[in-house]
Order: sequence, then structure tokens, then C-alpha cells
Amino acid sequence: MAEPPARYDPDEITIPPDGRPLEDQPKWRRDFPVDWPEDQYITRRDFVKFLILTSGAFAAGQLWLLVSSLLRRREEPGRQAVARVEEIPVGGSLVFDYPQNSPARLLVRVDEETFVAYEQQCTHLTCPVIADVEAGELHCPCHEGIFDLLTGRPLAGPPRRPLARVTLEVADGAVYATGIEPRTR
Ligand code: FES
Repeated sequence: MAEPPARYDPDEITIPPDGRPLEDQPKWRRDFPVDWPEDQYITRRDFVKFLILTSGAFAAGQLWLLVSSLLRRREEPGRQAVARVEEIPVGGSLVFDYPQNSPARLLVRVDEETFVAYEQQCTHLTCPVIADVEAGELHCPCHEGIFDLLTGRPLAGPPRRPLARVTLEVADGAVYATGIEPRTR
């Protein structure tokens, strides 16, 4: 039976079943050593391989984020029925998805003729905003953020950016979402 190399602590190594030294063992055994010293030993080649793989994964991740954000920007959400007009009384509101499976939007009926809709997540820390039609505001209860009901612009509290607005169309007794305006500062 082969003696283990001198640099090993005999208590930390396992003698392979065939007794041959590690160098003569099959590749799978050399790649996945069970002994502590071999497991801790990293060659320069392994280290470079690790660096290349992690850098490659990082670059691929960044590229994927870039491409998916470009594709998302180009996607037009299209026209989607949100509610019948009579379902929402003046001062009432409704939460809906637009486009499907996106973050919640809030539709508010301001008066007989006027509907507005925005993303529902506050631009401070994404708490859902609540409509206060009498005050002409959208209120975020988390940190008392306030947005203008007709424009979505921040009026008070920590939010600095306006709510993204959903464009609407009222036709044939129904309210339709038709697009999302880019958020402006
Ligand atoms: S999350 Fe809305 S004000 Fe902070």
C-alpha cells in the first residue's frame, strides 16, 4: 500500500481503496478530494478558472438585465378594459393590474367625467398609496407622503418622484387603460 505524501497529516487523509497515490487516481477523485488538505489546496489554474467563470457569470447577468430592460421598454402594454363606469362611484377607486401581472395600479374616479390612474406604489419606499378625492391627493400612509391626484406629482413628505401615470380612455361605458407614461422628474 502506498505511503501518503509527507506534506499530509496522516490523521486528515484517506488512503484510496486501490492504495495508489493521488496523482495516479482517476480524474474524478482528484477533482473531488475528500481529504481536508487536498480540498483546501487551490492551484493557480483553478483560481483563474474560478475568476473567469464568476466574471463571465457577472457579465452575462448584466447583459441579460440590459436586454430585458430594453425589451420591456419597447413593449407596448396595449389597451385593456379596467372597469365599467358604473362600477366606480365618484370618489371611489379600484386596484388593477396593467399590464397583467405587473405591479398594482390605482384607478380613481375624480368626478362624473374624470378618471385618473397611477402605479399604486409610492415612489419613496413602495407602500401602496390611497386616494383622498376630497383633498385632491393620493396619500401614502407609511411616511405621510402626498401626491397630487390630477398629476401624480409629489406634494409633501419624503417622495421626490411622481407616480407613473396610466393613460385611460372611456368608451362605451367602460374605462380602458391604454398605456403608461414614462415617469418624469
Ligand atoms: S413609502 Fe410612501 S412616503 Fe415613504
